Amino acid sequence: MFDSSENDYTSVEYWDSRFKEEEAYEWIADYKQFSELIVKELKQNDRILHVGCGNSQLSFQLYSTGFKNITNLDYSTVLIEKLSESNTEMKWICDDMRSLEKVESESFDVVIEKATIESLLANEKSVWTFSESAQSDLRSTLASIHRVLKPGGTFISISFTPPYFRVNYLIEQKWNIEVKEFGEGFHFYFYKMIKGSEPNLEELENYLRVNRN
Ligand SMILES: C[S@@+](CC[C@H](N)C(=O)[O-])C[C@H]1O[C@@H](n2cnc3c(N)ncnc32)[C@H](O)[C@@H]1O
Repeated sequence: MFDSSENDYTSVEYWDSRFKEEEAYEWIADYKQFSELIVKELKQNDRILHVGCGNSQLSFQLYSTGFKNITNLDYSTVLIEKLSESNTEMKWICDDMRSLEKVESESFDVVIEKATIESLLANEKSVWTFSESAQSDLRSTLASIHRVLKPGGTFISISFTPPYFRVNYLIEQKWNIEVKEFGEGFHFYFYKMIKGSEPNLEELENYLRVNRN
């Protein structure tokens, strides 16, 4: 999905130049493939933060389903300037998800990411051992998302990374972790974390056996 031989998906310059031209692109899966999974996790008035929104339709589809309190965040100024001009019904923030410095602590009920964590790791040579800088980016992203969620808030991560390579990082934050698989042909993962609850180590045991770093 990420062919990093030609493009540097970890650089904001790459995304800026891409968004100058590209109007819409959906990474991993589109809304209808996981709408049943996501809708049941959301309440109508939830304050929802979509990190690394890109030019995905996900926020627009959630908005038209009835979830009106949506903030979109991306570090590409090109993207945020373009979309915030034409879509004033939602909020738009240009910020780096590794710090989320423009976002107040405990200010969201739900944080959603889709394929954005993957873009941080796109240059990694092996899924078994990440470089120090990739590990640091991953940890600071998860810690920032945890910080901006209210106690009891939900983090939803939609990913193609199997739990063996993700749960050992997710478990470093204080939240419970549930994993569901979806998709036909290609399999994708719907991760749901609830801030403040303890992870069920028995349920996650199989994923944690594979521990490299
Ligand atoms: C692979 S695309 C996914 C876009 C969208 N979520 C989707 O599913 O179609 C990754 C997106 O994350 C953004 N991004 C990458 N690293 C980021 C960071 N550190 N902080 C904020 N946004 C980031 C990119 O600009 C891009 O829009």
